[in-house]
Amino acid sequence: MPPLSELTTPENLSEDTVRRYRDDGFVHVPQVLSAEEVATYRAAAEAILERDMEIWAGGEDGGQVEVNYVTQAWRKDETLRALALHPSLTGIAARLAGGALRLYSSEVLVKEPRKALPTLIHDDEAGLPMDGLSLTLTAWVALVDVPVERGCLSYVPGSHLRKESERLVHMTSFEHFRSAEEVWPDFPWQLRVTVPLRAGDVAFHHCRTVHMAGRNDTDERRIGHGVIFMDAGATYLPGVMDEYLSHMHPGQPLDDEKLFPLISG
Ligand code: SIN
Ligand code: NI
Repeated sequence: MPPLSELTTPENLSEDTVRRYRDDGFVHVPQVLSAEEVATYRAAAEAILERDMEIWAGGEDGGQVEVNYVTQAWRKDETLRALALHPSLTGIAARLAGGALRLYSSEVLVKEPRKALPTLIHDDEAGLPMDGLSLTLTAWVALVDVPVERGCLSYVPGSHLRKESERLVHMTSFEHFRSAEEVWPDFPWQLRVTVPLRAGDVAFHHCRTVHMAGRNDTDERRIGHGVIFMDAGATYLPGVMDEYLSHMHPGQPLDDEKLFPLISG
């Protein structure tokens, strides 16, 4: 795609892009961040990875892993907080979703050069400790160029609209995970759209959209910032990786403004 003459903003995002997001459950939005912003956020991501990087425990094969990450990055670092709450990111998310959202979480997501495995085929709904999901979506912000060979994401168009019997709706343990094929027998025959991103581009996907990512076969780290915006009315439903919510009781609204700020659309 040739460089755009201007950045994409909530104001100039086309109606066609919104419609494609609603139909497909994902959309590529080019050039949300300027080159200067990318440099600032990438430096912050690299610094937090030095301090706080965790290794995905699901790794097999002699220590090879899919993704290394920093959870709750926006709560740990002021610059990444500014990225998670960047008015272009939040405004575009709100236009795509079409309703009120709160910031739920953000993670720095890394695939190390030459050794990262493909990211497992999944959708995000089952892993989110919350009830009342209908608009919830992830903004995957590319902080480096992510061509296909560096492990960009692929998506199954329209999979966010499949019926409940074809979805893994909720997990309270990773032992409950089931493969896409087990849960959705038609999965192997679905189209998959692979979406390479330039640094500063953002790919948005709905929490029920089936997605995956490739290996990193290049000599450079793949660095992204995955920001999840949830339905403003979502409530707590005990799930996986939710120890930090253990002070909450099931059914309690996730509406503490400090932990889950409302975003302005
Ligand atoms: C990845 O960054 O490889 C996976 C991100 C996601 O599952 O949303
Ligand atoms: Ni995911």
